[in-house]
Amino acid sequence: MQVTNIADGTYQLSINVENILFEGFWEIPNGVSLNSYIIKGEKTAIVDGVCGWDGVPDTLFALIEQLKISPESIEYLIISHMEPDHSGWIEAFKRLNPDLKILCSNKAKDLLDAFYGITENIRVVGDNDTLDLGKGHILNFVEIPNVHWPDTIATLDTLTGTLFSCDAFGSFGKITSSVYADMLSKEELDLFEKETVRYYSNVLGFFSMQVKKAVAKCQALPVTMIAPGHGLIYRNPGEIMDAYSRYADYQKGPAREEITLIWGSMYGMTENAVNYAVRLLQEEDMVVHVHQVPEDSWGTVLSSAWTSTGIILAMPTYEFKMFPPMAATLEELGRKKVNNRKAFRFGSYGWSGGAGRELDEIMTRLAMGWEFIEPVEFAGNPRTEDLERIGSQVKKLVEEVKAVLRS
Ligand code: FEO
Repeated sequence: MQVTNIADGTYQLSINVENILFEGFWEIPNGVSLNSYIIKGEKTAIVDGVCGWDGVPDTLFALIEQLKISPESIEYLIISHMEPDHSGWIEAFKRLNPDLKILCSNKAKDLLDAFYGITENIRVVGDNDTLDLGKGHILNFVEIPNVHWPDTIATLDTLTGTLFSCDAFGSFGKITSSVYADMLSKEELDLFEKETVRYYSNVLGFFSMQVKKAVAKCQALPVTMIAPGHGLIYRNPGEIMDAYSRYADYQKGPAREEITLIWGSMYGMTENAVNYAVRLLQEEDMVVHVHQVPEDSWGTVLSSAWTSTGIILAMPTYEFKMFPPMAATLEELGRKKVNNRKAFRFGSYGWSGGAGRELDEIMTRLAMGWEFIEPVEFAGNPRTEDLERIGSQVKKLVEEVKAVLRS
C-alpha cells in the first residue's frame, strides 16, 4: 500500500489486491489495484476508498494516517460508483465520522441506502454541479453512466486538471514500480496494456456504447491527468482515452489483426487437428491467441476474443451438441456482445454431428453476427485429407481477417 502526492494538495491512496476473483468470478492472475484520492483545500474530500475484499477499511485508515490527517477531519466523501470494491469501507468510516457529507449521483443515493442503510447528509450531484474545497480546488462533476454501473460519475478538479474517473480508464494489474504510466518500462507498459484490455473486456465491455459516449465527454474536458480507481495514473490523458475508444469499437468488430483459437477436446482427436492448425497459423503473418476450454477462464478467453477479428472454434460433438465448455464460453462472449467476427469451426464427431445446430442457435439467440466459413467435421481422428481441408480453411480465414481490416 502506498500514498503518493500526485498534484497540488492531491494524494493517491493505493493498495494491491491478489488471489481473489474480481466480482466473484473473473480471474485476475496479475492482481488489481484499488485507488482512492484525497484532495485538501481549506476543506478535505475523499474520492472513493480502498479496503480489503471483506469490507474492513483498516488499510484505508493506515493510509490516511500516513498523511497525518484524522478520518474525522474529512468533510466530504465523493462516491464515484457504488460497487463495493470502492464503497465497501463507507459504513465503517461513517461510524467514525458521522457528520461526513456525501456527494453522489441520484442512482448512487438509492444504492447507498440499499447497501448500507445510509440516507442522511447526502447531496445529489450531476453534470454542471460543483464543490469548492477552497485554495482553488473547485470540483466539477461529470455523469458517465454505465461506466460501470448507472450510478457512475467522474470528478474534475479544475485547479489541477485531474480527472478522478473511477472504473473509467482503469486496468487490472498490480502497481509495482510507479503509479504513473509514463514512468514504466516498455515491458511493464506492455503487460499493463494487456491488463487494461482484460479489465475493459471483462468488466466494462458490455457497456461499450456508453463507454464511447463517456470517453467523448471526457475528451472535451480540460483534463491534464487521469486518476482512475484501478490501475495507473496517466499524465498524458489522450493516450488512455484513445485506447478506451478503440476498445469500445472492438465490441462490434472488426478489431485487431488477430485470431483467437478456442478449443476443447475429450480424448485428443480434435486436439490433433488443433495442433496442426496452430502450426499453420504460426506460419502466417498473424497474431494468434490459443485457449483451451474449460482450462482457460472465461475472462482470459474473452480478453483475447475482444481484440481479435477472427475466431476459430475447435471442439468435438457431445451428446448431439457442442462440447459443453465451448457452449458456455460462447454464451459469455455473446453476453458481452463480442459481435461480427470472422469465424471458422472444426472438430471431431463419433457417431453423429450436431455441434453446428447448437452453434447456430447460440449465434442467432445472442445476435452475434459472426460470419462462418465452411466448417470441417471429421469422424474420429483427423486423416490427412481432413487436415488439408482444415489448413485450407485456416488460410481462407486469415485472408478474410486481413481483407476486412483493409476495407
Ligand atoms: Fe471498480 Fe465497477 O467497480
